[in-house]
Amino acid sequence: MNLKGRSFLTLKDFTAEEILYFIDLAADLKAKKKQGITGKSLQGKNIALIFEKPSTRTRCAFTVGCIDEGAHPEYLGKNDIQLGHKESVEDTARVLGRMFDGIEYRGFAQETVEKLAKFSGVPVWNGLTDSDHPTQILADFLTIKEQFGKLAGLKLVFVGDGRNNMANSLMIGAAKIGIHFTILAPKNLWPEEELVSTCKEYAKESGSIIEISENLDAIEDADIVYTDVWCSMGEEDQAASRIELLRSYQVNTNLMNMTKKESTILLHCLPAVKGNEVTEEVFEAHAEVIFDEAENRMHTIKAVMVATLGNN
Ligand code: CP
Ligand code: NVA
Repeated sequence: MNLKGRSFLTLKDFTAEEILYFIDLAADLKAKKKQGITGKSLQGKNIALIFEKPSTRTRCAFTVGCIDEGAHPEYLGKNDIQLGHKESVEDTARVLGRMFDGIEYRGFAQETVEKLAKFSGVPVWNGLTDSDHPTQILADFLTIKEQFGKLAGLKLVFVGDGRNNMANSLMIGAAKIGIHFTILAPKNLWPEEELVSTCKEYAKESGSIIEISENLDAIEDADIVYTDVWCSMGEEDQAASRIELLRSYQVNTNLMNMTKKESTILLHCLPAVKGNEVTEEVFEAHAEVIFDEAENRMHTIKAVMVATLGNN
């Protein structure tokens, strides 16, 4: 599989085979790291890490992934560079592309990460925008594969803010690779119709079933329950109304029991607001796998960089 030179902006741009390749490569890099073996695939590369929003996992995953493979990461926080303030995205992209071999971007508009890719001429990786968080999905799918030994045919139910970046990206990824995917959310927090129909097109090919529901019974038979914060970064002012809207969609023991499966796992991209989207009790009961998922951010992000920029 040759993905050299490709940007990683959204899973819409990748086939099922390519998505599965990233996951298998990550599993391989993870196994090697556990044996104390790291590569030199990114030796001599300089990598810009632009963060217009805060981050623990994504920032650390890119930093450690770079260093493990011999690259130099350079963190550029929101007050460190001129991007979008004193200088256009296009100009910043052209400058960074002359100095860096790859660029990670976390920020607001998907359009910004697209412009960075278009004008920098180097691979650009989306570390989260308002609408998409594609590197997270690779970590989620690696974790699911570790737990179930397979991906296609499982049922994944996302509960909560059904139109946020996580719901969108999970729907794209699941539809591409044949995971049955349900969004459980109140109607005003359903994803955009256009994205749902795009995903239903992918699903026709992969055999997955995409369902959007406000009825809690839709959780029945879930192999994986997934939740995320009720207010994403930048939406903190909407906390009160979101709590009102989403109160009955909290992932608690009662809701988990409604899967009617003993084997259901819970995933959460983190950070979690316990007491809102998930109770402390349910979170702690599933913490082992949730923190595997967090660790897998590093192995999967490393895989994305190695596949698109690495020397071998
Ligand atoms: N899941 C995730 O992206 O976490 P951070 O915001 O800490 O990077
Ligand atoms: N939906 C969350 C995801 C955090 C990883 C946010 O955008 O804040």
